[in-house]
Amino acid sequence: MSVLLIAGSPSEHSRSAALLDEVSSRLGLRHALIDRLHIRDLSPQALLLADVGHKSIARAVGQVAAARALVVSTPVYKAAYSGVLKVFLDLLPQTALQGKVVLPLATGGSPHHMLALDYALRPVLQSLAARHILPGVYASDAQIPKDGEGRYQVSQDIGDRLDDAVNTLLHEGLRMPATGAFASVPFSQVRCSV
Ligand SMILES: Cc1cc2nc3c(=O)[nH]c(=O)nc-3n(C[C@H](O)[C@H](O)[C@H](O)COP(=O)(O)O)c2cc1C
Repeated sequence: MSVLLIAGSPSEHSRSAALLDEVSSRLGLRHALIDRLHIRDLSPQALLLADVGHKSIARAVGQVAAARALVVSTPVYKAAYSGVLKVFLDLLPQTALQGKVVLPLATGGSPHHMLALDYALRPVLQSLAARHILPGVYASDAQIPKDGEGRYQVSQDIGDRLDDAVNTLLHEGLRMPATGAFASVPFSQVRCSV
């Protein structure tokens, strides 16, 4: 299964990217095919002006299309996800995540905005037609301290939660058919409660 890891922080040294590194090493141990996309590496002008014909944007959109599963990691900014991630998601086709499993991750300065994953990011992923959005993992900055060499290290409890999340991702992703498209339902079988 190919898994695209999307880093949504504008920062070069990033805690939310450190979560992705942890996921990447776990997926590597399970022999998953991994691809990475750092949105901060894309052309800022092309991102902001929605230039989908730009080489870097076209390549990134292609990476999303090619993946069976995505891990989307973002810092919490002003009680939501980052603007960098938003401008990229806005460039994707409306059904870009159709048939795909998504694992959302976030880091924030305090635990108070942990629900941003559910009230801010999840609806956007849903609107892009993601087949299955797994329970997210949120870490506060205190749970990703720097080690003696200045590198971010996740705490044991976050590591345990990432273990579970990766297991679920592989399990759910492998269960999916390759196309992942929903079968159409005849209108006569649709039940409404209104
Ligand atoms: C502009 C800005 C806005 C932020 N807003 C919040 C916020 O609303 N809630 C919160 O918990 N942390 C907030 N933070 C802290 C970051 O979410 C936190 O430090 C995060 O781990 C940074 O991730 P990164 O290193 O991947 O960029 C904010 C940081 C910045 C720079």
